[in-house]
Amino acid sequence: MNLLKASDYKDLSRKAANVISAQVILKPDCVLGLATGSTPIGTYKQLVEWYEKGDIDFSEVKTVNLDEYCGLSPDNDQSYRYFMNQNLFSQVNIKLENTNVPNGLAADYEEECSRYDKLIAELGGIDLQLLGIGRNGHIGFNEPDVSFEKTTHIVNLDESTIEANARFFQTIDEVPKKALTMGIKSIMQAKKVLLIANGPDKKEIIEKALHGPVTPDVPASILQFHPDLTVVYCFD
Ligand code: GLP
Repeated sequence: MNLLKASDYKDLSRKAANVISAQVILKPDCVLGLATGSTPIGTYKQLVEWYEKGDIDFSEVKTVNLDEYCGLSPDNDQSYRYFMNQNLFSQVNIKLENTNVPNGLAADYEEECSRYDKLIAELGGIDLQLLGIGRNGHIGFNEPDVSFEKTTHIVNLDESTIEANARFFQTIDEVPKKALTMGIKSIMQAKKVLLIANGPDKKEIIEKALHGPVTPDVPASILQFHPDLTVVYCFD
């Protein structure tokens, strides 16, 4: 495990963007696993800046996002597809057809989950998976549970996750109660994992996840078993 302490959010974002940028330079047609939430926004901003300077080329890059809310369309500004288009895809030279987010409007969610797992396998797996962490230790939307869910699945969001994400919606009732998320297996099979955590409210859960017992009650704790995990954090 590679633990990198950042001096502030800007430094955290730059360090994370450096790791992603190195991946793209070393393997221009790599598969990036991407994440949403407020934490990666600075990382994406930094990547866009370097793209504009001509330092990074996304033309061959493929992406798979971790998760999506059920019931939100790509043009809903709270959907994760919208987030990715806004924060990264529309600002760099990635081909939109090479970007993948679970379909929150799928007619059959079970089928969509199988499609997503198949897609990840067909792409040859993930080279680098970027992760944020929920305050309850969730990664993607893998919520605390009695067992680790291996494949892409439908989740009922935790009350604490709904509350934490309510800040992005007008009212808490608008926060979707279900989501589709990549499973623990796809995340653990990524060749490299980059976990980013920012702010004092992430300190306790990061300590639990990285140094406590490995348990599905703290989904991120499974990452202790990943052979190539980098964590960039700033708790100030
Ligand atoms: C959401 C996402 C996660 C993300 C988490 C933390 O629930 N599904 O992928 O890691 O929020 O978000 P933030 O970075 O805003 O704290």
